[in-house]
Amino acid sequence: MKIYEKLLLENKAWAAEKVLDDPDFFHRLEHIQSPEFLWIGCSDSRVPANEITGTQPGEIFVHRNIANMVVHTDLNLLSVLQYAVEVLKVKHIIVCGHYGCGGVKAAMTNHNFGIINKWLRNIKDVYRIHREEINQISEEELRLNKLIELNVKEQVLNLAKTSIVQKAWQNDHRPHLHGWVYGLNNGLIKPIFEMEAGTHIDPIYEFDDL
Ligand code: CO
Repeated sequence: MKIYEKLLLENKAWAAEKVLDDPDFFHRLEHIQSPEFLWIGCSDSRVPANEITGTQPGEIFVHRNIANMVVHTDLNLLSVLQYAVEVLKVKHIIVCGHYGCGGVKAAMTNHNFGIINKWLRNIKDVYRIHREEINQISEEELRLNKLIELNVKEQVLNLAKTSIVQKAWQNDHRPHLHGWVYGLNNGLIKPIFEMEAGTHIDPIYEFDDL
């Protein structure tokens, strides 16, 4: 059996088990999705959104990229965000990073990675903003973990800077924003930052004509 054929086989078994458990499962999900959460996570294969939160298909709308970034010129992210907020009307957006993130680790080095440099630049910007706090930590791994936490916080703030989120805050008092970090070593999520809908941010970034 080819390695990818195992996936298809496992899929058959999974679908059969779902139907056995709940005969109506796929019929219910076929025509409508109404997730309450948008998940912005790292592409890392060890951090699967549904599995680590015990959620089912239909419960979380997911966007993943290297190091769970919210880049304001990323058309992919913005499309997902707009759809989740304005059409699906999610109540919560979770930015979930993870300790030991290879993307953040790469951004802390001075290596030239080619195309990916452009993506890592966004993380380097976070490093620059918080340079003092990070550099006073002597152990390398703890320095990395600090940047991972601060990066998650900055990405939550980046969400709050979008007109999409500010408009929904003003009109609908949602979504609430959450910054979490997942531990690869113990499977546990640590909440590290939160923004209630309507929280005021740096006025430079607040729109007054939404
Ligand atoms: Co990662």
